[in-house]
Amino acid sequence: MANNHKEKLEQAQKYVDSIKNQVALSKYRQGYHFMAPASWINDPNGFIQYKGKYHLFYQYNPYDSKWGSMYWGHAESEDLIKWNHLPIALAPSEFYDDDKDGGCFSGSAVDDNGVLTLMYTGTTTSEEGTVQVQCIATSDDGVNFEKFEGNPVILPNFIEGNRDFRDPKVWKEGDLWYVVIGTTKNNEGRALLYSSCDLRQWNFVSVLAESHGELGSMWECPDFFKIGDKHVLMLSPMELGSTITMYLVGDMDYSTGKFTWTEKGKVDFGFDFYAPQSLVDDKGRRIVVGWANSWPWMEWFTDFGPNMEDKWNGSMSLPREVKLDERTGKLKFIPVEEIRNYRKEENKVQLNTLNGSKDIIINNKDRYEMLFNIDLKATTAKELIIKLRENKKGVAILRLDIKNKKLIFDRNNCDGYNKGIKSCDLDLFEDTLSVNIFSDNISIEVFTDDNKVAMSNNIYPLECINKVNLEAVDGEIVFNSFDIWRIEV
Ligand code: FRU
Repeated sequence: MANNHKEKLEQAQKYVDSIKNQVALSKYRQGYHFMAPASWINDPNGFIQYKGKYHLFYQYNPYDSKWGSMYWGHAESEDLIKWNHLPIALAPSEFYDDDKDGGCFSGSAVDDNGVLTLMYTGTTTSEEGTVQVQCIATSDDGVNFEKFEGNPVILPNFIEGNRDFRDPKVWKEGDLWYVVIGTTKNNEGRALLYSSCDLRQWNFVSVLAESHGELGSMWECPDFFKIGDKHVLMLSPMELGSTITMYLVGDMDYSTGKFTWTEKGKVDFGFDFYAPQSLVDDKGRRIVVGWANSWPWMEWFTDFGPNMEDKWNGSMSLPREVKLDERTGKLKFIPVEEIRNYRKEENKVQLNTLNGSKDIIINNKDRYEMLFNIDLKATTAKELIIKLRENKKGVAILRLDIKNKKLIFDRNNCDGYNKGIKSCDLDLFEDTLSVNIFSDNISIEVFTDDNKVAMSNNIYPLECINKVNLEAVDGEIVFNSFDIWRIEV
């Protein structure tokens, strides 16, 4: 059995290695966001700091640029930005995970006394439908993984015919290991809690939290963590309209296994951010990364991207540090500070007051960070319109509607590929407002409203021109600062 796993890993690695140089030439490759060397990726998995290094695993179909039987790809990093690819970690190889419509589905990693231990969902199909079980794989060197002989360690929980039972996220509390697993009952999402002394023998504890019709039909990729004296349940609910990732902030009672939430919000307000997973690092930071794409069941879906023709698909969001905003009880998502080490060629824009429209020439047309701060008290304009990544087919439009307190991203006439307008409310509580925009070849991420708003959207423009256009509508915008840096990793 173990040999079959090894063979499947080697075969897949060989294939990826044979196409990766060609894939590297694709015009759509991201500059400073994580991507696999080739082929399809989705969810971040097993995100952990282990022996001082960050490890990121991911849902992987090494053989195609579309979803297929799932492997786990693997990379490591010193700083969450620059990643080294490592050999593929898991391949479908056993009776509980080897299936063309299944495989090694999402899961997480923990450091069990120096042993890097993965827990993932083995998915197969039977005549009755999908079978999802939870499995363990371990590594002593952080590179080569062996599946546990006693797999599966948690069997399906066919509550009233439900077959969805996946995406285990493990953590330790006191002397016990806990895992939260996503599922559904009567078409309402829920998260189940199990506990274990040894990561192999698990006991059902409770329904940690559930939807009562208001939080989607199935909870994918739940994650549970402490922040300050609160607890957070982060999840990717299905069939909840424009809400594709969310967080619930509340209190946990380990004696009953119940999590009671009082505040909720979106992890990201964009089209392209799904299945986020978090880690805590040795600096005590809670860091979240998400898959920067969407699924066909989402209402705005066009396709996965024109880069599929270049034998690759999918990248990850910028990693974000999570903080609790004491005043509102909401979460803040702040791009990790390490990205600043990759700022090159500062372009300090001399702009104090903007009346009407102005072009800003930038020294890199695709890969840059823009950061400006507005004096809201002195500003009279209703709105600031920012036109980004202009190309032969159009332009992406970001609107900061100060009067109505909204952030709006419009990609309807941007690249001739995908469409849609995303908008969200802003609190605008302070007298100043920082807007931080990260542009990479196929993505725009915006962080604003004191980091209570993150918005990630994919766009696919080619041959952009080296300028950004700013327009103040009905009045003037007063800036405290305005900087642009080329970002290069
Ligand atoms: C979320 C998801 C998970 C599943 C994985 C399969 O994007 O559907 O629930 O484990 O993708 O690749």
